[in-house]
Amino acid sequence: MALIAVIDSGIGGLTVLKRLRNDFKGFNFVYYGDNENVPYGNKTINELKDRLENILNDLSSYNPDCLVVACNTLSVTFENDLLKYEIPVVLTLPPYNKQGDYLLCTPNTSNSGYVKKNFGGNVLPLPMLASEIERNVLNLSNVRVDYDLKGVPNYAKRLVLGCTHYLYLEEKPP
Ligand code: DGL
Repeated sequence: MALIAVIDSGIGGLTVLKRLRNDFKGFNFVYYGDNENVPYGNKTINELKDRLENILNDLSSYNPDCLVVACNTLSVTFENDLLKYEIPVVLTLPPYNKQGDYLLCTPNTSNSGYVKKNFGGNVLPLPMLASEIERNVLNLSNVRVDYDLKGVPNYAKRLVLGCTHYLYLEEKPP
């Protein structure tokens, strides 16, 4: 049976794994959450590169058939490198639909070429939110978001959640 490897800095990618397990019933999965090194959103590019290399190294013994990068930060930062990887890679890129879309994401994601190209300045980088969710996942009402979300302008018509950690709030808003 084919094996799909799913990776993230921590618990964020479990939101993606849940959907994958539902949609791809005939597959096996291995999940790598780098909890020890979360958050990725504020790390330097070199630090991120080290983390990614480490994860791919650790996973190589499983011989996965496909890699799902369930982390927007890694996906947008290493988009081009990842697509040249030795097995098929699926990236998690924040979806852009139309004007009025406003992206909430990590600082590294907001600095990426992909986000600059698609969202322009309509981005609010949230330095703390992924860590807050990671720490409070068992009690999401403890997640503090207000101070961050004050930066969203009135013209924003749709908030795009550009970090897999944020999907916990979609399911159960604090
Ligand atoms: N869940 C990841 C993302 O989608 C990383 C968040 C973080 O570790 O800062 O960007």
